[in-house]
Amino acid sequence: MTDKLQGTKGHPFLAMLMDYVMRPMERLRKKVVLQASGVVLEVGVGTGLNLPEYKDIEALYGVEPDPYMLRRAQKRAEGVSFPVELHKTGGEMMPFEDEFFDTVVVTWVLCSIPEPQQALAEIYRVLRPGGRLLYVEHTHSHFPFASRIQNLFNPVWRRMAGGCNINRDSVSMIQEAGFSDVQTQPSGRESWTLFPMYRGMAIK
Ligand SMILES: C[S@@+](CC[C@H](N)C(=O)[O-])C[C@H]1O[C@@H](n2cnc3c(N)ncnc32)[C@H](O)[C@@H]1O
Repeated sequence: MTDKLQGTKGHPFLAMLMDYVMRPMERLRKKVVLQASGVVLEVGVGTGLNLPEYKDIEALYGVEPDPYMLRRAQKRAEGVSFPVELHKTGGEMMPFEDEFFDTVVVTWVLCSIPEPQQALAEIYRVLRPGGRLLYVEHTHSHFPFASRIQNLFNPVWRRMAGGCNINRDSVSMIQEAGFSDVQTQPSGRESWTLFPMYRGMAIK
């Protein structure tokens, strides 16, 4: 396993910033996370902001390559009522058996994963048949002007935002990852933003 897949060095400031910046997403988080059931895997747990939102799940497994994000997530895990097991690794190569999970959750993560298609193949592998991938992601704009600005701005943004790509077409990647059914819906008005968001579900 390469170092890139096992983990990043991370930075305490980035973890603190991410914790702060991602908090206002609570409304959208709830819509996605509340649908999770059974044994759940979260890929790219970050600072663990989703953890308090899970209700009535059997257990939560999480992967996160950044040690500073993981530390914050571990603290949040202490306050929940279900078993939590967190691993310091990326989504591209995960230490879980085939078809182990009922639900996989990704929230604003595919934009940051160095090899997103590989991570989606791993997600597919570890989901049981009929299991669901629940997601909310920002994606490439369908509007030519916004799309051009995303492409121009992305190299700077990626450096500022811990590897996040604003011009990645994450939703199409989910649609091309081999799931039997993919549902998606916009969250907000795409024409006005450089961060068009979509949420939905893909069924294996
Ligand atoms: C924008 S943050 C979102 C965090 C969290 N999911 C949330 O909703 O607050 C993106 C996360 O993806 C993580 N990430 C980066 N590379 C990754 C990889 N290869 N596999 C899994 N997660 C990764 C980052 O460390 C970061 O925690």
